[in-house]
Amino acid sequence: MGMISTLRSVVRLRRYERDRTLRRLSKVADVGDLRAMAKKRMPAGCFDYIDGAAQDEVTAAANVSGYGDYYFRPRVLRDVTSVDTTTTLFGSDVPVPLMIAPTGFDRIAHSQGELAVARAAERAGIPYSLSTMGTRSIEEIAAVSDGRKWFQVYVWRDKPLLKEMLERAAVSGFEGIMITVDTAVLGRRERDVRRGFSLPPKVGLDTLVDGVLHPRWTLDFLRAEPIQFANVKGSADVGDGSTPVTLAEYINSQFDPALSWNDIEWFRENWSGLMMIKGVQTVEDAEIAADMGLDGVILSNHGGRQLDFAPPPIHLVSPVADAVGGRTSIICDGGVRRGSDIVKALAMGADACMIGRAYFYALGAAGEKGVDWVLDFLKAGVEHTMALSGIGSIKELNRDLIEVRD
Ligand SMILES: Cc1cc2nc3c(=O)[nH]c(=O)nc-3n(C[C@H](O)[C@H](O)[C@H](O)COP(=O)(O)O)c2cc1C
Repeated sequence: MGMISTLRSVVRLRRYERDRTLRRLSKVADVGDLRAMAKKRMPAGCFDYIDGAAQDEVTAAANVSGYGDYYFRPRVLRDVTSVDTTTTLFGSDVPVPLMIAPTGFDRIAHSQGELAVARAAERAGIPYSLSTMGTRSIEEIAAVSDGRKWFQVYVWRDKPLLKEMLERAAVSGFEGIMITVDTAVLGRRERDVRRGFSLPPKVGLDTLVDGVLHPRWTLDFLRAEPIQFANVKGSADVGDGSTPVTLAEYINSQFDPALSWNDIEWFRENWSGLMMIKGVQTVEDAEIAADMGLDGVILSNHGGRQLDFAPPPIHLVSPVADAVGGRTSIICDGGVRRGSDIVKALAMGADACMIGRAYFYALGAAGEKGVDWVLDFLKAGVEHTMALSGIGSIKELNRDLIEVRD
């Protein structure tokens, strides 16, 4: 008796979480944990499509480790009882300087795919970007989200198709487009090459075995309607993604390798909203974009999936900010895994960051609740970093906060 009451006084029983997904998430501490969980739950080929990158994946790794060269110069004894992570992005407030990067084929991670991510983004109050290669359509996204939305486009050979998509995005209330300019041809993603990976995933003997090893994913995949490139379906000569093709075959036949700055002018004639280019990797190109009056440049190497040995975006932030800061918005995209990464990019001169894999892993690990979790985690991380470095608001962030080490 005495022992039990002693025990009771020292042991506080944790409340049992009934929701399976939340129970799983309660053991997650960071994006690395989400990645590990996604890896366990998804067939290997699907996980590798998300996790993999071009060739030796040097740039993909450097995108993440690049933040490691930036140390803080924290100031102490400053009242940080209230830390405000709100800032303005393209004329409206965002609760945290963060956007969702466009990714193709989200339904490979979870049947809700892009819908889950768009809903989570709206709840978090941050802009969502839908990929042209999305597996949910412009209209489906607009139907589930009144939040801020961007549409990502490639320079398709088929201009009438492109024009039709822009019109649909305008009707559906997308505030801007981002033109991805780093994909003249598809990067060589050797994990996909090795597996002969196709989209949608083909069912062969190896995938059947994989399916048995990943029963929850397989059930979810089989129960949902077939995966398609939702935005280009119905266009007879383009292919809707319902027949398995390797991504390289598809993209190299559909995208125009002749894309040039003239195409940016074409977009301006066919789109009246905000416009950014995604995939800027030098100061020179950022300057051309700013001179052309674009609303933003997205410093990005496509998460290391295009040109290996392209520079990590965090290293581009300060030279680009020196050249064009104040004339056009600067978005740092690639390798963001923590709130502190976002604080670093902003201190160096970026206006916001974007995330790709961080939410894609979350989707694979725990569906929509996983995406909610990672967005909360990043916002809390920004707040926490600011509090520990004596910063009360986003406008106080500048290079005094950072010491760059080689
Ligand atoms: C699985 C996957 C699919 C992607 N698909 C697209 C796409 O369709 N269009 C595009 O512009 N970028 C695409 N990207 C690149 C992302 O928009 C973003 O630039 C990149 O993920 C940022 O790096 P991070 O994953 O380290 O955050 C994709 C990235 C991943 C991981």
